[in-house]
Amino acid sequence: MASSSIHSLLLFCSLLLSIHMILSSQAKPSSLKPQALVLPIAKDASTLQYIITIKQGTPPVTLKLTVDLGGQFLWVDCDEGQYISSTYKPAYCNATQCSIANSKECNWECFFPKRPGCNNRTCILFPDNTVIGSADNNGEVGQDILWGPHSTDGSHPGPKVSNIPNFIFACSSNTFYGVLGLANGVKGMAGLGRTRIAIPTQFASAYKLPRKFAICLPSSARSYGVVFFGDGPYVLAPKIDVYKSLTFTKLILNPVNTGNAFDPDEPSAEYFINVKSIKVNEKIVSLNTSLLAIDQNGYGGTKISTVNPYTVLESTIYKAFVDAFVKEMPGHIKRVASVEPFGACFDSTHIGITRVGPAVPSIAFVLQSEGVYWRVSGANSMVQVSKDVLCLGFVGAEQRQRYSFESPTTSIVIGGHQLEDNLLQFDLANKRLGFSSSLLSRETSCANFNFTSTAVI
Ligand SMILES: *[C@@H]1O[C@H](CO)[C@@H](O)[C@H](O)[C@H]1NC(C)=O
Ligand SMILES: *[C@@H]1O[C@H](CO)[C@@H](O)[C@H](O)[C@H]1NC(C)=O
Ligand SMILES: *[C@@H]1O[C@H](CO)[C@@H](O)[C@H](O)[C@H]1NC(C)=O
Ligand SMILES: *[C@@H]1O[C@H](CO)[C@@H](O)[C@H](O)[C@H]1NC(C)=O
Repeated sequence: MASSSIHSLLLFCSLLLSIHMILSSQAKPSSLKPQALVLPIAKDASTLQYIITIKQGTPPVTLKLTVDLGGQFLWVDCDEGQYISSTYKPAYCNATQCSIANSKECNWECFFPKRPGCNNRTCILFPDNTVIGSADNNGEVGQDILWGPHSTDGSHPGPKVSNIPNFIFACSSNTFYGVLGLANGVKGMAGLGRTRIAIPTQFASAYKLPRKFAICLPSSARSYGVVFFGDGPYVLAPKIDVYKSLTFTKLILNPVNTGNAFDPDEPSAEYFINVKSIKVNEKIVSLNTSLLAIDQNGYGGTKISTVNPYTVLESTIYKAFVDAFVKEMPGHIKRVASVEPFGACFDSTHIGITRVGPAVPSIAFVLQSEGVYWRVSGANSMVQVSKDVLCLGFVGAEQRQRYSFESPTTSIVIGGHQLEDNLLQFDLANKRLGFSSSLLSRETSCANFNFTSTAVI
């Protein structure tokens, strides 16, 4: 008798539970905790910027954004009433959103007609146009619906996830620069940096994902690469889980802000790694190693950037590196006149082609120990500038005066061309970077995620 009533109670409970599950899954079909999210990433042929597309606002508007890996937040050009949405909510000074956004200023009065980006007594951020190197001084902190992207099991796109009703971003108005220098049709920048309101952390808290994301940049404007939010697997055709073959190194915090809206009391939102030496054909390039460390003023070190199309090296490092590379180039390969912005170009008629690009001296960024290095093979080191000319795709930094009111410079900025067809995982919680080196050596590429339905891209 007792056992049978317990039995029916259990039955009743499980019935209730399943009804509850059915109801809640009907109410929010896609709110189940996704394993990860996936977005396609495109390359713009003329600016060499990498672009993602999100849907925001009511009615939903598709926004193209230039990806800024170390950017502090998502900002949209709201100037002249360009941003129209009935669900936009400005963050009034001293609201929690202002402190989450780390805003330190209040805009008491906006002198233009009231609209998203122009409200009285709202907190502001400084949207940083890192492509042209200037920050705007008036980005209203706001919130709006961000329409849920596709979930993924790591191999294919799955159903869309639920929307984020109050996604925090900066609505930039009164812009001097706005989207100047950004690719055609782009409305702002997508910051993936190490702040609380950058996209990875907002996605992680909205969807209860681990604070990790991975980028795999396409090497051509004709195909899409992929960005994953959340943990692996990260599967690229033919069924290769790139996550399994990542090498790891520590992500380092630069204690001084490196953005254009300089605040010396704030740490940098960018991703730095500890490059200890550079090798060309296994030989260490002789350089001033103190430039490789980050000093107390935030100068030096190595960071990763999706905004610089080519790796930028401090001028003495650049000279030593180019000399070493030229010396290692086989004698029968003729050096030809340099083509801007590059410093070393070669007649490519006698340069062989391998699976990982042109057969040229190998380059390695050596990390925490001799055995841990990021290999840069021909596809990532060389740029074909004309039919018969291949250039070393690195550039030298312009010499710059040190000013205490300007953000500090970084000795090595690993740029887009060197990142393409490499998968990089940024693990914010564990402060480490996972990198694959060229996927071409594994007979896959960043264009090989199976997006299947064209609806995703
Ligand atoms: C916000 O708080 C600061 C001090 O904490 C105060 O000076 C300021 O007036 C407040 N701003 C608003 C809009 O209430
Ligand atoms: C801000 O307040 C001033 C003074 O009260 C008012 O004239 C102006 O219209 C307000 N602006 C907005 C955008 O609400
Ligand atoms: C090496 O770089 C550091 C940092 O810029 C500089 O202070 C030092 O003078 C350099 N040393 C040499 C030998 O050039
Ligand atoms: C992509 O996935 C679909 C659905 O699983 C499958 O039919 C198709 O063959 C896959 N394409 C490639 C190139 O693997």
